[in-house]
Amino acid sequence: MTDAFVGWKGELVRLVPPDRTLHFENALRWMNDPEITATLEFNLGFSRKQEEAFFDRIEGPNDTDFTWAILDQASRHIGFIGLHAINWRHRAGMGGILIGERLAWGQGHATDAVRVRTRFAFAQLGLHRINGHTFNPAMKRVYEKAGYRHEGTARKMFWRDAQWYDVSLFAILEEDWFSNLPAN
Ligand SMILES: CC(C)(COP(=O)(O)OP(=O)(O)OC[C@H]1O[C@@H](n2cnc3c(N)ncnc32)[C@H](O)[C@@H]1OP(=O)(O)O)[C@@H](O)C(=O)NCCC(=O)NCCS
Repeated sequence: MTDAFVGWKGELVRLVPPDRTLHFENALRWMNDPEITATLEFNLGFSRKQEEAFFDRIEGPNDTDFTWAILDQASRHIGFIGLHAINWRHRAGMGGILIGERLAWGQGHATDAVRVRTRFAFAQLGLHRINGHTFNPAMKRVYEKAGYRHEGTARKMFWRDAQWYDVSLFAILEEDWFSNLPAN
């Protein structure tokens, strides 16, 4: 089923529409893995019912929120990536990503997936700006590698494990992306 749509392709990954029959159990496992959720906004554990509601939302048509499953070069499902809260007046959206298979970390999968999502946002949706915020040092590096600019720090924005964390704010504009396209 997943292979019926080749997906949006990068050098290492493909982004395909989420499918409950293929991606649900991984999602549930990852959202209940404390190492994965340590740097996510939501880390309280996810019930099967909550996961069902999540899939109800992401599988249906939605003009302001896109989520894809991330497949590696062997077509293994390794994560999810999204473009959320799209504001069509300002043509801006917010990024989110999770590489749930820890063995797949550190190989460039997230960077490639972010690049593919960025291309989709500007070339297919005509967006103007993609925002991203994170307190995960690896994710900061991903944004840098994918051409996002560090625009500032939101001080003490996240409360986690009895302490506040500063959050780094990143963004890319369509002109940043279009001006870096290889010349024909
Ligand atoms: C953050 C995450 C998406 C990165 O995925 P990934 O596929 O490993 O990312 P990439 O391989 O493309 O790049 C990771 C980069 O971070 C670097 N890195 C890893 N740990 C780091 C750390 N503690 N400090 C600084 N850099 C770090 C890696 O060395 C690599 O950079 P390099 O290519 O210059 O060596 C993944 O770890 C993840 O999903 N974590 C849990 C969920 C999460 O935090 N999502 C982001 C929420 S905003």
